[in-house]
Amino acid sequence: KKGEAWSARFSEPVSDLVKRYTASVFFDKRLAQVDIQGSLAHAEMLAYQKIISADDYAAIQKGMTQIQGEIASGKFEWLLDLEDVHLNIEKRLTELVGDAGKRLHTGRSRNDQVATDIRLYLRGAIDDISGLLRDLRLALLDLAEQHADTILPGFTHMQVAQPITFGHHVLAYIEMFGRDAERMLDCRKRVNRLPLGAAALAGTTFPIDRERVAKTLGFDDVCRNSLDAVSDRDFAIEFCAAAALVMTHVSRMSEELVIWMSPRIGFIDIADRFCTGSSIMPQKKNPDVPELARGKTGRVNGHLIALLTLMKGQPLAYNKDNQEDKEPLFDTVDTLTDTLRIFADMARGITVKPEAMRAAALQGYATATDLADYLVKKGLPFRDAHEAVAHAVRSCVDRACDLSDLSLEQLRAFSPLIDDDIFQVLTLEGSVAARDHIGGTAPRQVRLAIQHLRQQLG
Ligand code: ARG
Repeated sequence: KKGEAWSARFSEPVSDLVKRYTASVFFDKRLAQVDIQGSLAHAEMLAYQKIISADDYAAIQKGMTQIQGEIASGKFEWLLDLEDVHLNIEKRLTELVGDAGKRLHTGRSRNDQVATDIRLYLRGAIDDISGLLRDLRLALLDLAEQHADTILPGFTHMQVAQPITFGHHVLAYIEMFGRDAERMLDCRKRVNRLPLGAAALAGTTFPIDRERVAKTLGFDDVCRNSLDAVSDRDFAIEFCAAAALVMTHVSRMSEELVIWMSPRIGFIDIADRFCTGSSIMPQKKNPDVPELARGKTGRVNGHLIALLTLMKGQPLAYNKDNQEDKEPLFDTVDTLTDTLRIFADMARGITVKPEAMRAAALQGYATATDLADYLVKKGLPFRDAHEAVAHAVRSCVDRACDLSDLSLEQLRAFSPLIDDDIFQVLTLEGSVAARDHIGGTAPRQVRLAIQHLRQQLG
């Protein structure tokens, strides 16, 4: 007999358009694995509590094993008529094992079922993403280590500010991705709670054991209120917010990679396998991967807003609106997963050009602050030192030379406190080496930070 699970209640079927409009099977079938996992845990509990028989449970297990095989081999027939992943699997189970299949849904609703599925799915995705964030950090650590001593200009307002080491610059991104990993782990705590048992919204009249199901499925706790259990999607929003921050960091890094690879800057090259050419300009090699990652950040941000907007007007408890949670969530997971995987690989395909970085650091009076600090150490108040050096820079601009090109005599015109020990201070190496405290850019600190992070990452 054809028809929906609820057709007995209705006098006419829905139109094909409505069927297609309300169906979710073509995107939620990716939950098949976790749906079966959840169903098996539920059935095990039903049997343990003697709500269904041991034979029924055995039949359900057997049927589900076959269904898993059919899905894995692509033989499973997904039917739009059956609306979603849950009903498709339940229907097939019933075809295979008869009444036992019809008993599976005892004490359960698709509302708590789908919430459970998404949490199981997302928990797995978070674990994958945490692993990828770790890979990326390890790849960046290698890059930072190779260039603990390589000097480039640090910028503020995109104007040359002070010399920094490239290792230090890379470590900044490692910090960001470290916070991202922490956020994922924190979000996981709230993902890892079991909605099952809430049934449609109010709980169930059967003597279920929710804690048993939670334990079977590896959840840390059960959701404590049945209405909240079926209608809460905070955990998905939190994940998307954390994902948006990961992408924000990826995007900032991408922006720098693109700038650095521009021939006008020429600080780095990116391995050919991450770049593409032009169909018209034979000379072009474009940094497509970072550009696309920067672009894809927009869609991840969009998914976060989509979920926030999806939830903001919903009364308790479950509403069909919630079916719209899946595509943004899945696309966020896919985008993040692919991006992180590619970036870990690409980090190993970055060639640094230390000469270009050094040449850039020698322009723009990057050591002016060092000269001011020098004067302060000789007793001048900082504001006076700042002014004296500003005059020196001004005169260098007029002469089109660097601070270190001035003779001792010329420098002394700006402050008699200057001695010939100044020339060491004005070198790029002297400048970075002097910032030798936790979080500073000195090569020694960069190496200590790398060592610390390697320990942390195990
Ligand atoms: N496909 C639905 C979803 O994704 C499953 C839950 C449906 N529940 C319902 N009462 N219509 O949310």
